[in-house]
Amino acid sequence: MKKTALITGASSGIGMELARIHARKNGDLVLVARRLDELETLKSELVEKYKVKVWVFQQDLTRVDAAENVYAFTQKEGVQVDYLFNNAGFGGHGFFVDRPIEKDIEMINLNVSALVKLSHLFLQDMKKRKSGKILNTASTAGFFPGPLQATYFATKAFVVSFSEALAHELKPHNISVTALCPGPVKTEFEKTAGMTGGNLFEKAASAKSTAEKGYRAMEKGKVICISEPILNVLIRFVMPFFPKFLIPGMVQKMQTI
Ligand SMILES: NC(=O)c1ccc[n+]([C@@H]2O[C@H](COP(=O)([O-])OP(=O)(O)OC[C@H]3O[C@@H](n4cnc5c(N)ncnc54)[C@H](OP(=O)(O)O)[C@@H]3O)[C@@H](O)[C@H]2O)c1
Repeated sequence: MKKTALITGASSGIGMELARIHARKNGDLVLVARRLDELETLKSELVEKYKVKVWVFQQDLTRVDAAENVYAFTQKEGVQVDYLFNNAGFGGHGFFVDRPIEKDIEMINLNVSALVKLSHLFLQDMKKRKSGKILNTASTAGFFPGPLQATYFATKAFVVSFSEALAHELKPHNISVTALCPGPVKTEFEKTAGMTGGNLFEKAASAKSTAEKGYRAMEKGKVICISEPILNVLIRFVMPFFPKFLIPGMVQKMQTI
């Protein structure tokens, strides 16, 4: 049966690729982000290529009422959201004490609060229907403390933990929750986070392959998807044996531009 997916952060990067995959599978879409032109261009591409239905909703998800606005839009349009992709997010480089606090609060509002509120709103209907899927774009950053990106890493640790807990709670309701945890990916993220010029993104994965792996994991109902095999092995089988006190120093070195 045709499924409708709502994707936040669909105007670029991983979110845009998730939209393309879902449309290719003949699914309808609700695309959410701030940049309307990019969303409209993507809508035209998907409607023309796959003949699916696409709704576009412009919203700054750092607003306190953003999640309610998104939900109200779907209600007004009569759209049933079968899959929720909480993908919008951004990072920010620098020592926490020297960063403008407003930027880190905005980051928490987007990466954490919007994700939690959207999940809560759409889960009400999924629970009634006894069906649904959530894909949260977390990060491998969610498995470590992150000096030079302290708030960003902490938001992603929240997303990993929250996803694992919800996945367990929602299993009896036939709802799956997946946390997609990529390492570096070639998107606008690097520039937005102020990380251009470093070598962290030199061998970054493509947004397309990352989205493919996340979408597949969501279809299978996997809880955690670390999208790069080498990082998967490191995080699951090597890092647990690593002395914990060494990790912040190692991460800071990797984050240094
Ligand atoms: N790239 C990486 O290396 C990497 C690695 C691990 C995890 N991730 C995660 O992957 C997710 C997607 O990022 P990406 O790599 O695809 O980067 P991206 O190309 O910068 O995409 C970010 C998306 O989030 C949207 N967004 C940003 N601020 C927003 C706001 N205030 N309100 C609504 N939407 C907003 C952007 O749209 P507008 O600007 O149009 O609003 C854009 O569509 C993020 O959660 C990121 O943390 C990325």
